[in-house]
Amino acid sequence: MRLRRAARVILVGAPGVGKGTQSERLLSRFPQLSAISSGDLLRHNVKNRTPLGIKVENTMKTGGLVPDALILRLITNELSQRGWLSGGQPSFMTLASAEPSGAVDGAGDTMASSIPGIETDPNMGATLSNQASEDPSASFLLDGFPRTAVQAERLSDIVPINWVVSLQTPFDVIMERISSRWVHEPSGRVYNTSFNAPKVPGRDDITGEPLVQRADDSEEVYRTRFKKFQETSEPLLEHYAKKGVLWEVHGRGSDEISPQLFREFERRFL
Ligand code: AP5
Ligand code: MG
Repeated sequence: MRLRRAARVILVGAPGVGKGTQSERLLSRFPQLSAISSGDLLRHNVKNRTPLGIKVENTMKTGGLVPDALILRLITNELSQRGWLSGGQPSFMTLASAEPSGAVDGAGDTMASSIPGIETDPNMGATLSNQASEDPSASFLLDGFPRTAVQAERLSDIVPINWVVSLQTPFDVIMERISSRWVHEPSGRVYNTSFNAPKVPGRDDITGEPLVQRADDSEEVYRTRFKKFQETSEPLLEHYAKKGVLWEVHGRGSDEISPQLFREFERRFL
């Protein structure tokens, strides 16, 4: 199914609500879409022991949010590298510039300023462009970014988002399934032993590589992540409600949500 205009979509929702799951499903149904998951990008950096990864590891493990300046730089760099922004070419931190290094002290201090190649001013990321490519091939889906009002405002300066999906599932339902989540780290593919189990237990369906459980999926850390979401999501959603691009979808599980999501996506972009 071909898109008629560029879709610049954000998925917002509590940890474990199914952002990654819906994102995978949208991508396989609409091959013109590509996706960025801020959590997957960060985990990639942690796994590869990049200066950025070393810096954010503890914050992620304990369920906090990484600093706005840092995440903005990471995402704008990714958007620009994928050609989803048009305009000037300021120098951004690249994932390649975050080479493995033991030189950075990751303990406690979460300021981006002490990471080589990352500047601290969150406005810096906004200098790229205020124009987005309208070509349907420049369509994208962001999972997990933005998640604060500051991030949303900066992103609006760079690229106008034209659809924000707020995924809503009751807390107790999510809490029940989070401990049975397994992920394929290199791709971000998500499984759940009680819902969409892998064909071979413990192995990714596509590559056969081993699946892992996330360090932040313990009940205690999950509660901290959920609390953080409650604190930050209201101003975030308000930002997009004011712009008239917010759409809410309710369901007890991804199978209830997906058909509604597909229908609305098609109405807007096909
Ligand atoms: P991130 O990776 O974005 O985590 P999150 O928001 O906590 O969301 P999750 O990935 O846990 O859940 P999901 O909504 O993708 O659900 P899923 O599809 O897996 O972020 C991690 C950390 O990075 C943050 O805590 C923060 O430190 C940092 N970070 C990231 N972005 C940041 C930002 N912008 N600013 C600052 N810091 C940032 O589904 C969950 C499970 O449910 C799966 O097992 C799935 O299979 C299962 N499931 C789905 N549907 C069903 C169903 N119908 N029935 C049963 N199980 C189901
Ligand atoms: Mg996810």
